[in-house]
Amino acid sequence: MSFSISLTINGQSRPVILDDPRVTLLDLLRERLHLTGTKKGCDRGQCGACTVLIDGRRINSCLTLAASLDGAEVTTIEGLAESEMLHPVQAAFIAHDGFQCGYCTPGQIMSAVGLIAEGQAGDDPERIRELMSGNICRCGAYQGITEAVLEAQRTLAEREGSTARKGTTRKGRDAA
Ligand code: FES
Ligand code: FES
Repeated sequence: MSFSISLTINGQSRPVILDDPRVTLLDLLRERLHLTGTKKGCDRGQCGACTVLIDGRRINSCLTLAASLDGAEVTTIEGLAESEMLHPVQAAFIAHDGFQCGYCTPGQIMSAVGLIAEGQAGDDPERIRELMSGNICRCGAYQGITEAVLEAQRTLAEREGSTARKGTTRKGRDAA
């Protein structure tokens, strides 16, 4: 028996017909939708290579049934950059050598984006390491990863601050 679901993936509406209710989001993304940036490592929730965002929250896509996501918004590594402009987390991973072979990197980056959005990382490297501990890096690039998360967090906070300031200035002008 087949059934259909509708997902928004990286801002685009994607109706999907599933023949098997056991299909994971990871397999759907990679095998059916050819979004191969999301990696399959352990396929059992232990490495974090398959991390994506569902409605803004980070999850392991290998443990998530696609059938359970009707109406959800999915963000993968392919959806982060804005045309040629890298997302601040992507740019920070490059600036801080937050990878070697790169296999874990999409999952690390998606996890970092989710973590920063959660707003609970603070500026303590130990805490960031703990909150990113579901993402394993066999190359041991943890030092660069942590530095990248810290820098991206600062960049995003500054950006948010300057947007808020512009909004206040505009309101002030409108009120005058
Ligand atoms: Fe999903 Fe390892 S592939 S956690
Ligand atoms: Fe190789 Fe992390 S960069 S596994």
